[in-house]
Amino acid sequence: MKNNCTPEATSALFKKHFGHTPTHVVAAPGRLEVLGNHTDYNHGLVMSVAVDRYIFIASSPRPDGRVELISSAFPAPEKFSVSDLKSNPAARWADYVKGVLAQLRRRGVLFGGFNAAIHSTLPLGAGLSSSAALEVATALAIRRLHPFTLTETGTAQPPQANPRGELPPVTPVERMHYARLCRAAENEFVGVPCGILDQVSSLCGRAWNVTSLDCQALTVDYAPLPGVVLVVCPSGVNHALIGGEYKELRDHCESAARKLGAKFLRTVELKQLQAARTALTDREFACAHHVVTEIARVVAAERALRADDLAQFGQYLFQSHESSRDFLKNSTAELDQLVELARQHPACLGARLTGGGFGGATLNLVVHHEAEVFMTHMATGYEKQTGRKLQPDLCQIVDGAR
Ligand code: GLA
Repeated sequence: MKNNCTPEATSALFKKHFGHTPTHVVAAPGRLEVLGNHTDYNHGLVMSVAVDRYIFIASSPRPDGRVELISSAFPAPEKFSVSDLKSNPAARWADYVKGVLAQLRRRGVLFGGFNAAIHSTLPLGAGLSSSAALEVATALAIRRLHPFTLTETGTAQPPQANPRGELPPVTPVERMHYARLCRAAENEFVGVPCGILDQVSSLCGRAWNVTSLDCQALTVDYAPLPGVVLVVCPSGVNHALIGGEYKELRDHCESAARKLGAKFLRTVELKQLQAARTALTDREFACAHHVVTEIARVVAAERALRADDLAQFGQYLFQSHESSRDFLKNSTAELDQLVELARQHPACLGARLTGGGFGGATLNLVVHHEAEVFMTHMATGYEKQTGRKLQPDLCQIVDGAR
């Protein structure tokens, strides 16, 4: 899973298929949710990082209003007209691109046809959010081809390129508009009712730092993560948010909030929730309990991180996993095994499932110089317990998409 796919490899893929060099190559990173499971769509708090696994898009404009997409992950190209953005059941992967194009059009961004080659170092379905990275890369590719400035309500005067033809960087405020646009693409075109965490992480991450996102105010803050590394352990059981479980959790949270007279669980206190126990179904109570305590954990964890107390910070990760497992119930036997194995190793400060759940991967916070031995411990232990091969992966924290 290491970076054998680079911008150069993406250009080469483009050239092989289209017969000429692309005019632009963009990259958008995947993300790891560090703490704050299923808090985003409840307008809560969440911590994440952008990681050094990317979706690359190489592109060139074409004059006939048509789009041709190729992907190194899928055999057949997908061809369509910019004025006819429909899902093709035989090429669902292209929905993320089409969804973003549809949102751009809705906001008045004018763009023509283009050819694009998509290449990825992000494992599909492992919980690193390849879908958000593809959405973000698509929006940035269109910005290169047909420059535009996004605003709260639509678009403004396009940015001017410098004499070398380079556009100014996307501003932090505009990045949040991009995140909303990409989330809307996923909600409306792809049909996944996700929150905004993945898109913000891919756009707003900062190298060496944890990003704290307030999903109500839509603001981000950063805190360095020194002396530790992040190790991802894919359980080998892939998740699919399109499956009904994610939506079911969201529905429970939303109906719990309604019954508590709140717009979102963000504003509910644990005492208030406990007092209203009998007004809620068991699942509503359990999901709300997770969300309310998880938001409190993010607040406490941020304090620990700023005080350089990584041991305490890690404890919140373990607690988060227990809450996801016992209350939200989005863990699996494999994820639980991975967390328990990690807990046995002294170099592991914290571990938890990361992302939507129901499969995917665990995130492990590991003392820097012990990463190697920790990864061997995990691979050997997991294979012994489950018969499954495990390839733990060390991720670097990187800047958001450029
Ligand atoms: C997925 C979704 C996010 C978020 C997480 C759980 O990654 O895409 O919006 O809800 O699950 O925290």
